[in-house]
Amino acid sequence: MPLATKRSPSPSSAHLITTNGRARRSAAAATTATAGEQQLHQQATSAELLMRRLDEDGWVEEHMLSLLTPVADAWQPADLLPNFAATADEHRHQVAELQARAAGVPDDILVCLVGNTVTEEALPTYMTMGNRVGAAANDATGHDGHGWARWLRGWTAEENRHGDLLSRYLYLSGRVDMSRVERTVHHLLRGGMRMLEPQCPYHAFVYGAFQERATFVSHARTAGRAARHGDACLARLCGVVAADERRHEAAYTRAVARCIEADPDAVVRALAAVMRAKVTMPGELMADGRDGDLFGHFAAVAERAGVYTAADYGDMVEHFVRRWRVAELDQGLSGEGRRAQDYVCGLPRKIRRMEELAHDRAARMEAQSVSFSWVFDRPVRVH
Ligand SMILES: [Fe+2]
Ligand SMILES: [Fe+2]
Repeated sequence: MPLATKRSPSPSSAHLITTNGRARRSAAAATTATAGEQQLHQQATSAELLMRRLDEDGWVEEHMLSLLTPVADAWQPADLLPNFAATADEHRHQVAELQARAAGVPDDILVCLVGNTVTEEALPTYMTMGNRVGAAANDATGHDGHGWARWLRGWTAEENRHGDLLSRYLYLSGRVDMSRVERTVHHLLRGGMRMLEPQCPYHAFVYGAFQERATFVSHARTAGRAARHGDACLARLCGVVAADERRHEAAYTRAVARCIEADPDAVVRALAAVMRAKVTMPGELMADGRDGDLFGHFAAVAERAGVYTAADYGDMVEHFVRRWRVAELDQGLSGEGRRAQDYVCGLPRKIRRMEELAHDRAARMEAQSVSFSWVFDRPVRVH
């Protein structure tokens, strides 16, 4: 459900409400509700109408679907991994070469790679979440023809290659305990994920933009580390995944920018709500049946390895505040919207201050390692 805060409808949402019969019916149904409930209803309705309009106007087609790669041009995992249809000698040679390169990848980078792969493999959860953003954007039949449904299925099809590609690499590399890795995926899929305001497209788009950018950073850095340790194959695999994440980030970023134009008050409040929840990570509930804080330990290894850090999070907030011109918003903001704007614009500075304190604390801490089942219980430094 949308936020339980007061707002006046922006001029654009008022316009939308008068131009759609469905909205009028919804508004009529709300007359018996309390003022707060009516505001919630109105907010959900204006978001829904906006989603419908963006699809009907061709905006989704032009600005989001155009960012998906046609199937004929898209890479597939089989294109990038050893070819088992080749002669026995040839595929043995390709696997031996992959394993020889993988032998030089240190455990902390393997842990980062496994954590990223496990997160990618929980795609069914994310597709489900993507189909709970509101009636106008959901794929109600599973084969809806509207733009949002086609985006969700196209996005899922591209993302599906990420887990397949990285997981096959891990399997072939012989460097990790695949049974433990697969068990972690199984646990994560059973555990699900926490998501804010699942019925509001604004929250979903903001969350999507942050997540895609975070995964871009994480895969791109893993690629860099792999290259540095002599694994050109892994560097290439992480690089193609990172490039996909970049395109997906662009799509969600455009969606948020467009929604801000039409409904600035609700979107800036959605942005603040997502920031207040600290952009909960999709893999947060991962478990391997042994480590009680597996995600925390994975995140600590990623921080220490520089693959994904608290500073990156601060940079991302700063980037999106600038990209969406949050500080410049003026027209159409309610009191609550202005408070959300102030909060979001002040956040990068706060995150940096907290990060400096955490950095100082970490510098005073004794070295600490944790055993990861993923790498046959070998200890990996977390501090
Ligand atoms: Fe991905
Ligand atoms: Fe992604």
